[in-house]
Amino acid sequence: MDMGLWATTCILYPAACSMQPETSNLKSIANYLNSMKTIDIKTDSKVSKILIGEKLQNLAGYLPPGKAMIITDENILKYYGDALPAFPVIVMGQGEKSKTLETLHEIFDMLLKYEADRSTFIIGIGGGIVCDVAGFAASVYMRGLRFGFVSTTLLSQVDASVGGKNGVNFRRYKNMIGAFSQPEFVICDGKMLATLDPVEFRAGFAEVVKAAAISNTSLFEYLENNHEAALEMEDAILEKIVYESVRIKAGIVEKDEKETGERRKLNFGHTFAHTIENLTDMLHGEAVSVGMVFAARLSERLGFLDGKGVIRIEELLRNFRLPVALNLDADKVINAMKKDKKREGDAIHVVMLDRIGHAFTREIEYKQLEELLYDLR
Ligand code: GLY
Repeated sequence: MDMGLWATTCILYPAACSMQPETSNLKSIANYLNSMKTIDIKTDSKVSKILIGEKLQNLAGYLPPGKAMIITDENILKYYGDALPAFPVIVMGQGEKSKTLETLHEIFDMLLKYEADRSTFIIGIGGGIVCDVAGFAASVYMRGLRFGFVSTTLLSQVDASVGGKNGVNFRRYKNMIGAFSQPEFVICDGKMLATLDPVEFRAGFAEVVKAAAISNTSLFEYLENNHEAALEMEDAILEKIVYESVRIKAGIVEKDEKETGERRKLNFGHTFAHTIENLTDMLHGEAVSVGMVFAARLSERLGFLDGKGVIRIEELLRNFRLPVALNLDADKVINAMKKDKKREGDAIHVVMLDRIGHAFTREIEYKQLEELLYDLR
């Protein structure tokens, strides 16, 4: 089978490339699977159902009758090929480098080849990158097809696949071309986390810590008390963490789907993270971890957050084995941020904290930000 740079297709499953998922990390995850919880995200356009604890094997039950096509990546195909429903599969590349207009181009070619029409349902199965690309392809192909996701990484279950932001990177800019368009459903299958690369699994906790830090003190305390069990994939703990994180995001998205105010809080740490991702090979979650520490220190420097708050954030991220500092020349970071200035104007919205569990945004001029970053060096 040709696993080309962007997209190729396996026609109808089961296929030769599939194999059984590894079970080493499964622990007692069976209970997690038996306790599905649903969160409805209600926006003007639709109700998006987030199904926490649902199984990939039940996917077919959520699909409308008729044609469907799956967009996924090689890794999912390797572990879960046998469990996919019998629809044409488009396989896209992995990693941020695949989140491009070229990948979309390939996907559109495949949709044309398999005669996708307005009635075709698109299913994205994968982590944040697959969901971002599949959601965008579905949102614009023939002015919009119905779509849903099976979200397979922790980061995507708690953040990326939920809330209707989709798109691709363009030139050096992350998520520059995209749309707001809600998936009809998101299946968050805890069992699929067992085959995740451990580094990727841990990176997902950055978005969990973010959700807690910006709006839920008790989730933050829960994470402080249960990080080891969460890293061990204890079923009940992981379920609670995914559920609470999605609940926080759902509440914010319902208030401000198109990010004109409240939703900006979800970008806590991300202003810096995007620059860090441009400069390093860090995973998104790892860069968000470092970015949150920057943002927390900035909040302290400007007199909003006390030092103890900064220490708690750093410590929690460290406990999730996430990076909290960057071995990069600060000048490089500042120069990269200045280049981003082209699209932001003279000021930038930075999300800050005034206590653990409460965030707000401040417009800061780049010049002042630069001085603050130099100070923090
Ligand atoms: N990941 C941030 C948001 O969905 O708004």
